[in-house]
Amino acid sequence: MQLIKSVLLKPFHNFIHKDFHEVVARMKLMDRFIFLDIHFIDKLGIWHRLPVFLGLTYLALRRHLHQEYNLFNVGKSPVGVRYNPADYPFRTADGKFNDPFNEGAGSEDSFFGRNVLPVDQKKKLMKPDPIVVATKLLARKEYIDTGKQFNVIAASWIQFMIHDWIDHLENTDQQVELVAPKQVASQCPLKSFKFYKSKEVSTEHGYYGIDTGYLNRRTPWWDGSSIYGSDAETLQKVRTFKDGKLKISKNGLLPHQDGQVISGDVRNIWAGLSTLQALFVQEHNAVCDALEKEYPGLKDEELYRHARLVTSAVIAKVHTIDWTVELLKTDMLRAGMRGNWYGLLGKKFKDTFGHVGGAILGGLVGLKKPNNHGVPYSLTEEFVSVYRMHGLLPDTLLLRNVDAAPGPNKSPPLAKEVDMRELIGNKGEEALQNIGFTRQMVSMGHQACGALELWNYPNWFRDLIPQDVDGRDRPDPVDLPALEIYRDRERSVARYNDFRRSLLLIPISKWEDLTDDNEAVQTLREVYGDDVEELDLLVGLVAEKKIKGFAISETAFIIFLLMASRRLEADRFFTSDFNEEAYTKKGLEWVNTTESLKDVLDRHYPEMTKKWMNSSSAFSVWDSAPEPHNPIPLYLRVPH
Ligand code: HEM
Repeated sequence: MQLIKSVLLKPFHNFIHKDFHEVVARMKLMDRFIFLDIHFIDKLGIWHRLPVFLGLTYLALRRHLHQEYNLFNVGKSPVGVRYNPADYPFRTADGKFNDPFNEGAGSEDSFFGRNVLPVDQKKKLMKPDPIVVATKLLARKEYIDTGKQFNVIAASWIQFMIHDWIDHLENTDQQVELVAPKQVASQCPLKSFKFYKSKEVSTEHGYYGIDTGYLNRRTPWWDGSSIYGSDAETLQKVRTFKDGKLKISKNGLLPHQDGQVISGDVRNIWAGLSTLQALFVQEHNAVCDALEKEYPGLKDEELYRHARLVTSAVIAKVHTIDWTVELLKTDMLRAGMRGNWYGLLGKKFKDTFGHVGGAILGGLVGLKKPNNHGVPYSLTEEFVSVYRMHGLLPDTLLLRNVDAAPGPNKSPPLAKEVDMRELIGNKGEEALQNIGFTRQMVSMGHQACGALELWNYPNWFRDLIPQDVDGRDRPDPVDLPALEIYRDRERSVARYNDFRRSLLLIPISKWEDLTDDNEAVQTLREVYGDDVEELDLLVGLVAEKKIKGFAISETAFIIFLLMASRRLEADRFFTSDFNEEAYTKKGLEWVNTTESLKDVLDRHYPEMTKKWMNSSSAFSVWDSAPEPHNPIPLYLRVPH
C-alpha cells in the first residue's frame, strides 16, 4: 500500500512545498489528494477570493485534514466502566458526564489538548527578551481601530467567551521575575515584574510522547461557565435556589457581596464583560419564567437545569451566527458559520423538517451523535494562544449621553471619556453602578474596538494588577504583553513559522512574506535578526497581512475553523441531546427563535436597539448603515 501511495504521488513531489513532504508521507491516500487540492489553492493564495460555494468546499476539505492531523490528546483516555448518559440529561457544575465514553472529558482541571505537538523552548524562554518584543513590536503607539466593523461589545463578548472556556492553572509556589533590559527600560512602565509559573503536570506517559501538560480551571464546554462557574461551590453562590433563577441586582447588573462581585467567573473582569454577564443572567431568569409558565409543575432544580441548557445554547448560537460573522465579514464565512448551525439546507428547511442529513447538509447542531474525531474533547494550548486578543481593547471608553435625543444614524452625543483603568476590576464594578446597564451597552455599541495589528496592544496592560481566581487584586502588577510572549514559550507553543507549517499553511521565508510595511520589517529584523523561525506566534498573528473583511489573521483563523466546529459537534448537548427531553419543547423553541445578540437585547431592553442601533448586528458599530439587501443567493455569490 505504501508503495502504491508513493508511486501515485511521485509526480507531485516537486510541486509540494518541501516542508510538507514528511507529513504528506504519513497521510492516508485519500488525504494526500485532499492535501494536493488545498495546497494548490494555497500556492495561488486565492481561497478567500473563490466563489462562496467553492470556498466552502476548500474550507470543508481543510477542516477534514485538521481533524485528522491536528488533534492531539494530552494525558490518557480512561478505561473502565462507562456511565449511562441518560442519568445526566443536564450540564453538570464541573463539566463531567458530557462525553458518553469519557466522563472526565471537558471537566474542570482537565488537560489542555494540542493542535500542534509541543516545541520545547526551555532553553530560549528569554530569546529574544519578552520585554523587548513587547516594547518594540506590541506596545500601542497610536490607537488603530476596526472602523465600523467591530465594536467594544464585540471585544467584551470574546472575553465573555474566554471566561467560559479557558484559564490555565498556575503554580503558586513558583514565581518568575522578568527585568526590563537597559535598551528598553526607559520605555517600560515596569522595570521588572513577577508572576507565577503555569502549573506543569505529568501526563504519566501520555500519548505522542507528551509527558507533561497544563490544566484548565474553566470547563472548556460551551456551558456558560462565565455565569454559572466551573464548580459546584461557585454554582451555589450564583443561584437563588428559587424558581431555577440566578442572583441579579434590581438595576439589572451583577450583585455584590462583601465588596466582591458575584458571578460564575470574576477574575480580571471589567465593566464591559460584567454587563454581558448580567445580560445573560437576565436571559437565564427569563427562560426560567417562560418554562415555569409553560410547565407549572417544574421544581427549582429542573428549571435551573433546562434554563442553563437553553441559555448556553443561545450564547453559542449568538457567537456562531452573529459575532463570528462580523469578525470574518465575508459572504463565504457568513455561509460557513450559518452552515455550522443550520447546515447547507438552511434555517427554513431545518425549522420545518428538523435535522436532515449529516454535518454538511443539516449542520453540526442536532447531529445524531457527538463526534470528537477519536480524540477526547478539550480546548488546546494553540487555541489559547490565538485568542490572545488584548489589542481589541481601547484606551478609553467613550461614554454617551443616553438621556439626549439620538443624533444622525441614531448616535448618542458623547458625554465624557473614561480611562479604561477606571473600568477594570473592583473599581470598574463601582463605576458601572453609576454608569448603569443601558449607558454602558449603548456606549460600547457606538465605539469601534481595537484592531489586531502590530503596535496596538494597550499600554495600560503594561502595568496591570492581575487578580486571583476569586477576583481579589494581587499585590504586584504585570506587563501583560511581555507575559503573554513568555507564556507561549513556557507552554511549548510552536513559534509562528512552525505553527503555520503544522497547520499545513505555507511558512514564510523572509519578513517581506509577512508584511508589506517597511517599518515593521525593519523592527522585526532589529528584534529577531534575519531568523524568521524565531518569530513569536503572537507577533506573527498581528503582523500578518489580513484577508479582506477578516479582523484576525489567516493563521489564527485555521485554529478557529477546527475548534469552532469541535465545540459544537463534540458536545452531547448540541448533538444527540439537543432535543425536547433535555431542553423542553419551549426551551428548544427559545433557542430556535433567537438569532442574534440584538434579539437578546430586545427581549430585556425593548427600547434600546430601536432608539440607538442603526446597524444590523449589535457587534458592528451601532451608527453604521444596516446591511443592504443582496438579491443573489448566498452560496452563489462571488467576492469582489
Ligand atoms: C479588561 C479586560 C482584561 C483584563 C484585565 C485581562 C487580564 C488578563 C490577565 C491578567 C491574564 C493572565 C495572564 C497570565 O498570567 O498568563 C489574561 C489572560 C488571557 N486573556 Fe485577558 N484580560 C482582559 C481582556 C481580554 C480580552 C478582551 C481577551 C480577548 C480574547 C482576553 C484573552 C485572554 C486570553 C486568551 C488569556 C490567556 C488565558 C490562559 O492563559 O489560559 N482577555 N488576561
